[in-house]
Amino acid sequence: MTKQLFIKTFGCQMNEHDTEKIAGILSNMGYSLTDSPDGADMIILNTCSVREKAEYKCYSDLGRLLELKKKNPDLVIGVGGCVAQQEGERIVQKAPYVDMVFGTDNIPDIPRLLEKKKGQRKGAVSTERRRKGLVPQGGTDLKSVPFPSEVSSLPIMRNHPVKAYVNIVDGCDKFCTYCVVPHTRGRERSRQPEDICREIEGLASAGYKEVTLLGQNVDSYGKDTGGHVDLAELLHRIHGISGIMSIRFVTSHPADFSDNLINSMKRLPRVCEHLHLPLQSGSDAILERMKRNYTYPEYRDKIRRLREAIPDVAVTTDIITGFPGESEEDFDKTLDAIEEIQYDNIFAFKYSRRPYTAARLYDGQVPREVSEERLSRVLEIQKRITLTKNQACIGRECDILIEGESKKDKKKLTGRTGGNKIVHIPVEEGISVGDFLRVRITSATHASLKGEVVRQGDGL
Ligand code: 5AD
Ligand code: SF4
Repeated sequence: MTKQLFIKTFGCQMNEHDTEKIAGILSNMGYSLTDSPDGADMIILNTCSVREKAEYKCYSDLGRLLELKKKNPDLVIGVGGCVAQQEGERIVQKAPYVDMVFGTDNIPDIPRLLEKKKGQRKGAVSTERRRKGLVPQGGTDLKSVPFPSEVSSLPIMRNHPVKAYVNIVDGCDKFCTYCVVPHTRGRERSRQPEDICREIEGLASAGYKEVTLLGQNVDSYGKDTGGHVDLAELLHRIHGISGIMSIRFVTSHPADFSDNLINSMKRLPRVCEHLHLPLQSGSDAILERMKRNYTYPEYRDKIRRLREAIPDVAVTTDIITGFPGESEEDFDKTLDAIEEIQYDNIFAFKYSRRPYTAARLYDGQVPREVSEERLSRVLEIQKRITLTKNQACIGRECDILIEGESKKDKKKLTGRTGGNKIVHIPVEEGISVGDFLRVRITSATHASLKGEVVRQGDGL
């Protein structure tokens, strides 16, 4: 019987994609994925440390894993991701029953770590930063033919049959003063455009229809490699790959988001009409303390230009409440900005004090109850705006990619609009995952849309 592997993933899409790489490597070593930790031969926590709560969850999960390890001493426990990168050896000191710790850059080391572990009693740790260019990037889908390129040596076990994540740039150079990511994922490293396109060609020939390009700051793509291929140019190249019907990208940064990119989004029909542009705060004083390098009027101006070019574009954002020094007046400016911009959706978080970051030492730390109360006001206002935005879709026709069955209702299929809104349609004969359909939106809540099929679609 093959050995069973359970991976629990915390945090962002980057982490979800790292999990696909971890699963790819371990599947090559004879493991198969299971969806329950009970009875697994190996359990990996792929951790996130962007907010304290996620990091805390990692340690409380580790506590529970000790019970499983007591029942099965042969169980192999691994900790990967940002907490692993940040904490390194300290994880093994706190939880000596952990067998291996690998940072976000050290996924390719997993086979070596497992070997090393066999020869020693304490956990094997690999969190050293790899030098630029040394990390084998990209990879193959397990279902497809391996890539001929020597740099694309990491196997990837994709979690979805028709949509795929593709890393374009790792790490971040921005050092926003609240954010631990530059400290865990390191400096910005862009992949070569040829490697990215080769990976996507492989995906297209394996039947993938949609790619989401990933980076902490995708607008910065190519700056570290000479800048002759920026994100706008990369989108052009990917747009030319036949079979890829829909292209998404996250996350953009307001200081780097350019007119050039707006033009590419406008000109390239397969690039989805959606922009995720984190605002974080509507107050210029707070934006400055966050070291975001833009003012709210500059941000608003970029959104205005984007909407002039692409009137139906969906815009989403991230907001932090209770950043150190945020007064009631500062917070009101965030609420005003939310009302003014009218986002399609918002991810909002209360400020969390993170190690290594500049803001952890700032004056004016805001009491938790205050940031929580502000967070609930943001969510409440946005719920109403999202509902209005979604209701405005009723009666419209749009093309969606069918992604699978609805999780809640087996009689429904689920897809997404170019603007990333979830659409449920009734199951019908002849419709399957990977189809593009033209649907008419018939009803809407703040969470999703319902639609009816008009005909086969032409792609997003
Ligand atoms: N506290 C709260 N939210 C944070 N984010 C990043 N760091 C922190 C922090 N220390 C949020 C930002 C970012 C999103 C991915 O997570 O809004 O855009
Ligand atoms: Fe963190 Fe700022 Fe980089 Fe985003 S741009 S990953 S918030 S440092």
